[in-house]
Amino acid sequence: MTRTADHPIADQFTGRWSPRAFADAALAEADLMPLFEAARWAPSASNNQPWRFAYGLRGDTAFAKIAAALVPFNRTWGEKAAALVAVASRSTVAKDGAENPNPWHAFDTGTAWGSFALQAYLQGLSAHAMGGFDAAKLAETLAMPTGYVLHAVIAVGHKGDAESLPEALRAREFPSPRLPLTQLVGRGAFK
Ligand SMILES: Cc1cc2nc3c(=O)[nH]c(=O)nc-3n(C[C@H](O)[C@H](O)[C@H](O)COP(=O)(O)O)c2cc1C
Repeated sequence: MTRTADHPIADQFTGRWSPRAFADAALAEADLMPLFEAARWAPSASNNQPWRFAYGLRGDTAFAKIAAALVPFNRTWGEKAAALVAVASRSTVAKDGAENPNPWHAFDTGTAWGSFALQAYLQGLSAHAMGGFDAAKLAETLAMPTGYVLHAVIAVGHKGDAESLPEALRAREFPSPRLPLTQLVGRGAFK
């Protein structure tokens, strides 16, 4: 399936998608760091920068721990990625010696993940977010501080051959469509 935008936009927006087939190739830290760097420059409420990341590279202990927290469906393909990145956000901000809720921590961290994913695409890499994981297990295994909220685990790597996937997943290995803007955008009122 090819994706066609209804309005002129840069290729990266339709070119990025979330494959599940990853190539065997390892990922050097030097290739992963620009993804965090792109995320780092995302906008956030009061420039609080609530996003936090913890990662492992395939073969190391952190990778194995993150993979072990994935639900079985995600683990089958996610553990073949070259890197696994847990995404959390700090849900409070320090002010006047107290921690106050930051209502935008999730919104801002989603923005950062978007930049991460687009940077991956621009580097010829794939990044696939997963919400299917055991949050309690992941928080413990990554020594997550109190007040952080886990959002996703991202599988990162070089795209692999769809043939490497089990039959059921192979059938889903293509870029997905989107709702039309007419269902999403209203002039003067929400749709
Ligand atoms: C927060 C979040 C959670 C997701 N969770 C999963 C998941 O647990 N397993 C999975 O296979 N894909 C997961 N996805 C991938 C989405 O299904 C995918 O992004 C969506 O279908 C749009 O497809 P595209 O990214 O290829 O454009 C998740 C994506 C996001 C952003």
